[in-house]
Amino acid sequence: MASEVITGIGALATMHEGEGTLGLLRDAAVVIDAGRIAWVGPSGSAPAADRATDAAGAAVIPGFVDSHTHAVFGGDRTAEFDARMSGAAYTAGGIRSTVAATRATPTEELAARTHRLLTEALRSGTTTAEVKSGYGLDVETERRLLEVASRFTDEVTFLGAHVVAPELADRRAEYVDLVAGAMLTEAAPLARWIDVFCEEGAFEVDETRRILAAGREAGLGLRLHANQLTMSGAAALGVEMGAASIDHCTFLSDEDVEALASSDTVATFVPGAEFSTRQPYPRIERLRDAGATWAIASDCNPGSSYTTSMPFCIALAVREMGMSPGEAVRAATLGGAQALRREDVGRIAVGACADLVMLSAPDPVHLAYRPGVQLVDRVWRGGVETREWTPRD
Ligand code: NIG
Ligand code: FE
Repeated sequence: MASEVITGIGALATMHEGEGTLGLLRDAAVVIDAGRIAWVGPSGSAPAADRATDAAGAAVIPGFVDSHTHAVFGGDRTAEFDARMSGAAYTAGGIRSTVAATRATPTEELAARTHRLLTEALRSGTTTAEVKSGYGLDVETERRLLEVASRFTDEVTFLGAHVVAPELADRRAEYVDLVAGAMLTEAAPLARWIDVFCEEGAFEVDETRRILAAGREAGLGLRLHANQLTMSGAAALGVEMGAASIDHCTFLSDEDVEALASSDTVATFVPGAEFSTRQPYPRIERLRDAGATWAIASDCNPGSSYTTSMPFCIALAVREMGMSPGEAVRAATLGGAQALRREDVGRIAVGACADLVMLSAPDPVHLAYRPGVQLVDRVWRGGVETREWTPRD
């Protein structure tokens, strides 16, 4: 693979050196070699490489790390969204209509749909994406979804505990047994993570504890849908069990915030879900004051947040949650990497993956300052400039 030097970068967001929250280096250069960052420094002293690219003053940031997506599903829920925007409430029940559509969709069609969604995400600057199952809810369909997800990413999450499968609606204990038993056995070799939707209408705290414990026993890392619709005990449970991330966090108590701050669990916010469900946005001040770590993710799914756009989520987080533009861009890159316990993405440093986004803007602040504008100009993923999400080898 040919090496490449990108010079004339007006603002390079390294996340770890230089100025401010984003670790900005001005008039900088980056060298890419064999898929990794090989050199970072002042543009004037950049070494030569096989190829040279002039950024002409544009900003360069790490590719977005979207640590929470449900990007394998059939159908969509246009009518439900339309009704909600006319006043209907969001409930966990809508998930079942996507389960029916997903079960009826052949595997190769699911894979083609996921590929389209991830390509859409890449064109908005996402270079790492977690992908969950959770619209199968039977052993065979969950296995198909995990197999599709693993064609595209290392960050595969088993979410058999999304809601109780419709055919076991009256026998929830049986469904919990299935998820923590036969379904998990089938899922574990295909996944890195296990997740549970712990919420009214989905799974209770005790059921969640049992499923997460079984997942851990099977070698999976823990993540959680927590405190999305109510102030449940889910957030506290996630921190107590050492989850890498608790996601949504729309409603957090002061105790939850304190617990987060003294743990290495990341709070992942998904403001696209607040947008699409007309829920109140959580505020960031208490987490900032307490010193907690947070991320932003898209939560891309057909029910509560049908967007792949991290720039859209950044703009929402700035306008509606009280994040500074720098905090939001950091949360969408380094924060996502922390939520996935990854050190090789979400930053621009020697040895990190060469996942880079060149903006048609002089400063990353423009991602919030110019909402709704396509500012992602060029994307490198694994050192290769691309417009398409290439499957894993
Ligand atoms: O993250 N909260 C649970 N799961 C998804 C929504 C799923 C759906 O409505 O289809 C979420 O918001
Ligand atoms: Fe989700």
